[in-house]
Amino acid sequence: MTRRTRKKVAILISGRGSNMAALIAAAIDPSFPAEIVGVISNRADARGLEVAATHSIPTTVVSSRDYDGREAHDAAIHKALTEFKAEIVCLAGYMRLLTPDFVQKWKGRMINIHPALLPSFRGLDTHARALATGVRVHGCTVHFVTPEMDEGPIIAQAAVPVLTGDTEETLGERVLKVEHRLYPLALRLLAEGRVRMSDGVAVFSGVEDEHRDIAIISPGERRD
Ligand code: GRF
Repeated sequence: MTRRTRKKVAILISGRGSNMAALIAAAIDPSFPAEIVGVISNRADARGLEVAATHSIPTTVVSSRDYDGREAHDAAIHKALTEFKAEIVCLAGYMRLLTPDFVQKWKGRMINIHPALLPSFRGLDTHARALATGVRVHGCTVHFVTPEMDEGPIIAQAAVPVLTGDTEETLGERVLKVEHRLYPLALRLLAEGRVRMSDGVAVFSGVEDEHRDIAIISPGERRD
């Protein structure tokens, strides 16, 4: 991959940016098939902006307060992505709903990480809801973004056990650790063209030997 052009990736964040940091860390390796060309936040106080800056990644704040309505805001985000010459968009804790027009523009080229094993627990407070429901296995999902929230075709999932005595925090930390392993792996597949969205499903090619990687099952308290 070193000789081939790396795909230009922009990351959209709203807060902490730990998944963003995991993608940046993966892309430091020159053999990784994607480079992070920019980070966009809808919030000026997003902690992830500082993290990106320490890695010399260009950052832009596109605050919704500066725009009249979601369409205008998403148009400004699209403009910023175009200025970064982004080819792929990774949503990493981006906490705003996207307009159908924006989603359409990035169809098949925009992915998201969700802190649950979709299609279970779409939306917010996934860890609390997993605990309340009593599931014994929880996890995270990377999926293509489609107009319906948390509904796009699944690229990769990671599962962790729910342990006796777990709180929202301990379970969330366990899931977050595998998020940081899963997201770079899913981005790699997309950047290498080994997964694409077609007719509303994720179509894979050349991942036969790696199927165990796109379904990470994390044994207990594994530390990475
Ligand atoms: C993660 O749990 C991610 O799955 C969800 O939002 C959270 C963002 O965390 N979409 P971070 O900003 O990446 O640390």
